[in-house]
Amino acid sequence: MSQAEETTTSRVGQLYDQMAGFESDNFSGDHNMHFGYWDTANDTWPLERAEERLTELMLEKLQARPNDRVLDIGCGMGTPAIRIANSVGGEVVGITVSHEQVKRATARADAEGLSGRVSFRYADAADLPFEPASFDAVWALESIIHMPDRLQVLREIARVIRPGGRVVLTDFFERAPIPEQKRAVVNKFRSNWVIGPMVTIDDYPRLVREAGLRLVELSDISGQVMRRTLEGIAQRIANDRKTIDASLGSDMADDLSLSDLIEVWELGYLLVVAELPADGT
Ligand SMILES: C[S@@+](CC[C@H](N)C(=O)[O-])C[C@H]1O[C@@H](n2cnc3c(N)ncnc32)[C@H](O)[C@@H]1O
Repeated sequence: MSQAEETTTSRVGQLYDQMAGFESDNFSGDHNMHFGYWDTANDTWPLERAEERLTELMLEKLQARPNDRVLDIGCGMGTPAIRIANSVGGEVVGITVSHEQVKRATARADAEGLSGRVSFRYADAADLPFEPASFDAVWALESIIHMPDRLQVLREIARVIRPGGRVVLTDFFERAPIPEQKRAVVNKFRSNWVIGPMVTIDDYPRLVREAGLRLVELSDISGQVMRRTLEGIAQRIANDRKTIDASLGSDMADDLSLSDLIEVWELGYLLVVAELPADGT
């Protein structure tokens, strides 16, 4: 790994270590740390429900079987991993580059009586500490957004998944070139949230192929995800501003706010489903 990549990974870790200590029921009390999904324009459910809905959608796509062993890359506070274990019934191993997240996710799994089946550890997705073909399925919900080298991560996924196993992930992407007047907003977002290099939807078929995987689905789900999530986050921050300021400091609260992005329709959200060919093709 290059020094720049190492620096990125440790910056991501610091960001999430700091955020892990932030407790508020208003602000994602369920500890999901991802965008929401509303199936149609008529769905008016709140962001918390939409976050769960995105997890459900990914579970549908994962098609895991009972007792499958699932790797959750970028596990956050453990909420999706716990949900996977409760739905699939097998074992889930979550990894993150935040030591605080490992601690808190482990405590949550223990509290739910899942310590034998759900575990969390510190590991970098670019260098997975697992044996070849040791997982039936791989899940990466909004974590590849931070990673400097997507191809390397996809290669690692292809190495640790069994033939015929599926990977489901979500990513940010450029739906169209970001116009000059919106670039400062996007650059600020990328810098504050340590977001890796941007991709387009056309990059994915090549990335997946070069990693040795076969693309099953590539969907632009921005319409179901972006605007309502950004509005929901802005609302949460407004509702909870005092607690956030006290916990993270007002500068950081301003830095992490995503409301400027609401008008940047060019920034989109991608759902990717791929599999390791069972026949080695
Ligand atoms: C936006 S959060 C998503 C958390 C979780 N998937 C969820 O939906 O609640 C991004 C996660 O990716 C993890 N992450 C970022 N870069 C990583 C890397 N190189 N290796 C492993 N995890 C990484 C972060 O530590 C964090 O847990």
